[in-house]
Amino acid sequence: MATPTAEREQWGSRLGFVLAAAGSAIGLGNIWRFPFKAGENGGAAFVIIYLICIAFICLPYLFAELALGRNSQKNPVGAIAAIRKKTPWTLVGGLCVLTGVFILSYYGVVAGWAFGYIFKGFVAPAVESSEYFSSFIADTAVVLPLFALFMLLTISVVYGGVEKGIERWAKVLMPILLTLMFVVIIRAVTLPGAGAGLDFYLNPDFSKIDGTVVLEALGQAFFSLSLGMGAMITYGSYLPKRENLLVSGGYVALFDTGIALLAGLMIFPAVFAMGQDPSEGAALVFVVLPNVFDAMPLGTLIGAVFFILLSIAALTSTVSLLEVVVSYFVDETTWSRKQSVWLVGGFTFLVGLPSALSQGGSDLLTNQISLFGQTGFLNIMDYIWGNLALALGALLLSIFVAWVWGTRQAVEELQIGADGMFSGTLVSVWTFFLKFVCPLVIAIIFGAIALGVI
Ligand code: TRP
Repeated sequence: MATPTAEREQWGSRLGFVLAAAGSAIGLGNIWRFPFKAGENGGAAFVIIYLICIAFICLPYLFAELALGRNSQKNPVGAIAAIRKKTPWTLVGGLCVLTGVFILSYYGVVAGWAFGYIFKGFVAPAVESSEYFSSFIADTAVVLPLFALFMLLTISVVYGGVEKGIERWAKVLMPILLTLMFVVIIRAVTLPGAGAGLDFYLNPDFSKIDGTVVLEALGQAFFSLSLGMGAMITYGSYLPKRENLLVSGGYVALFDTGIALLAGLMIFPAVFAMGQDPSEGAALVFVVLPNVFDAMPLGTLIGAVFFILLSIAALTSTVSLLEVVVSYFVDETTWSRKQSVWLVGGFTFLVGLPSALSQGGSDLLTNQISLFGQTGFLNIMDYIWGNLALALGALLLSIFVAWVWGTRQAVEELQIGADGMFSGTLVSVWTFFLKFVCPLVIAIIFGAIALGVI
């Protein structure tokens, strides 16, 4: 049973949407995943490719998701079906929903770590941070309750619905996070030896670029902007027609990219100042930042506040992941929002268990499985769903919007509420990017990697 459009919830204000969508975009992707991916893939060279991907692929594609969402007023599956009924394209919507469950399943685990780290400075002030982190994430009795708790928090926000749940929280919390990041950056760049980190982060060495670096950068760009699995279709579906999609979408991309770049500025100077290895992977932020906090006056307190805010940033992202899946069940089945939230949330927790156990909790899941050059269940999931599935989803959705729905329809939707700012050359440029650049570049990267060319 589809919910009638007239009853669909909407955001309360423009600021509310921008902050909620930015809240979805800004999360562990910016502060945890971006620095560690950059560290593993050559630093500044990765950052440059990442920025190119954001500007030329993700931004045009973001408008396509928003236009499709607002036009159809539906979840990803419903949005596609609203345009082409009973075609295999609906399966792409299915891929979106599935990707949502899988990303949430391991993202929730990492979010649980961030949550647990709020207390680290108080319970283990003098312990060496990389040892502390390894034993922390291996301790099932700690990690599982934290993961469960984080899923419950997510469930309770999504339970409250669009305006009262998601929007209200995003408005208060995002500005505080930004302020605190500046405090940490100032400490990090003034540490002795920070210069080498700035050099690694800002001075590109292009010989480091290969196919994996490009795919990782593209995957990270989609991941960071919450693209490729219909989160922006879903959030766009709650937007009123008077909204200017270009301006709102532009703000979201700007905030998200800004925060990622700042996160790098926060991490890399400290990594080098502390003599650590930038390519140590998923542990990077959790090992480096506590060291920085230890080197600050009031560090314990600042560290606690920082991880509170990181947990909140993660929460506004997990909320959007859950919301996509829930909106699918609410729109397309007879389940109520309450039922959907509990069932999907509970199921995702079960799917996340192997990820939670993959950091030492279970040796099989930690060391003995590897795929696509990734070792450990969580890393494999992140590679498959956070890189491959998002890039594939974006490839298929951009083809769907550009070639099946048609750019003319999409342009018309984008023009509503845009006060004439979307016309002339801008329209031609956008159309060209969506029709050719987005799908071709993604397809070429996939093809080249499959053939082992790059
Ligand atoms: N973008 C979020 C982050 O950077 C994660 C996220 C939320 C996401 N919703 C998404 C990623 C949808 C991909 C698709 O932390």
